[in-house]
Amino acid sequence: MAHYQQQGDIPPKRHTQHRRPAEGGEGAKGELYYEELMGEEGFSSDSSLLYHRNIPSTIAGAREWEVGDLSTTPNHPLVPRHLKLHDLFTAEEVATTDVVTGRRLVLGNGDVRISYAVAGATSPWYRNGIGDECVYVERGAARVETVFGAFDVAEGDYLVIPRATTHRWIPVTDGEEPLRAYCIEANSHIAPPKRYLSKYGQFLEHAPYCERDLRPPVGTLLAEDVGADPAEETEVFIKHRGNGPGGIVGTVHTLPFHPLDVVGWDGCLYPYAFNLRDFEPITGRVHQPPPVHQVFEGWNFVICNFVPRKVDYHPLAVPVPYYHSNVDSDEIMFYVDGDYEARKGSGIGRGSISVHPGGHAHGPQPGASEASLGVEYFDETAVMVDTFRPLELGEGGRAVDDGKYAWSWSGGRGSGPESGGGDFSIG
Ligand SMILES: [Fe+2]
Repeated sequence: MAHYQQQGDIPPKRHTQHRRPAEGGEGAKGELYYEELMGEEGFSSDSSLLYHRNIPSTIAGAREWEVGDLSTTPNHPLVPRHLKLHDLFTAEEVATTDVVTGRRLVLGNGDVRISYAVAGATSPWYRNGIGDECVYVERGAARVETVFGAFDVAEGDYLVIPRATTHRWIPVTDGEEPLRAYCIEANSHIAPPKRYLSKYGQFLEHAPYCERDLRPPVGTLLAEDVGADPAEETEVFIKHRGNGPGGIVGTVHTLPFHPLDVVGWDGCLYPYAFNLRDFEPITGRVHQPPPVHQVFEGWNFVICNFVPRKVDYHPLAVPVPYYHSNVDSDEIMFYVDGDYEARKGSGIGRGSISVHPGGHAHGPQPGASEASLGVEYFDETAVMVDTFRPLELGEGGRAVDDGKYAWSWSGGRGSGPESGGGDFSIG
């Protein structure tokens, strides 16, 4: 992140003595806080300094954590797919599902994994040692407690959580909708596109959002602020590199204290929230190219969003997209809200994912282009992840593949081995 933040109690000069308030008589010194430099790219990129009450390397126990089924299956034979995420969790399962241990892998490759959770339970304390996470809140709300401070997130929020940030998810359970979390886990960092930024990192005027739209954590958050004992022994679930599926395994560390022990921090590395409704759509007389929808990027993938917007206003404009071959990418669209003019008749609806793989052109369903003529406004909300390496189907994706989307451009006439009208699911 480009812009510097400072919260809580920090010393005026970095790497100098910083002490707890003194107890006792004149001349007494408080105990030193423990300074931690949390830095990216070998301390050659963004970093923050955190001041802990406890030695941050302390552990009192370690055991293996089974991170769940992270196996993947190639999209072979190659077909576009429709995955129905709202079928992944029953109403009964929500109460005991948490965002961290309950997320189910939908799609993944060596750069990024997309998982989904409908959660009513508080997650354990957690940090992802593999890469940054960008969690999109499709519905519902949650409080997210991190060592940098807390967030209240709700529908439409992205929460970008840097690699190795200790945090937990506490769903709001008395709302109309349960917390629905669309979890994008990178093996790298996730950041605003470089082309939106000045050479020193300020958002430029053409960017569809800027610093004012980003919500950093406000204030510090200590154990006693959440009603916990600072000396409370606590487990932290860590996802990290190893020899499991996708090169991922898990470990649980036991700390002999509560992880919320940071009295102050400053720097440019911290979690932040951004709401999709604060993304200002870029529109034009004719169809604008897909990169105008980009919101974030990671190594070998981008995150885009489609928001309600005025559509193309040339007198002869065709508002829905042209057919396109994104020859270097798989395109994964998560449909959150609205009408989806281009997908009419395909079965796509709220909670759907479309998988449009590289090597195969895609575009509107039959009749959608003609039907869109004269339309002035699209009421649609969607989050898209485009990956340069092919995505494979995870356990969750295989479970909710509708098996017939591939035939939606041919009037349902499928020719796969299982088709007979068209089920081609590998789930
Ligand atoms: Fe596309």
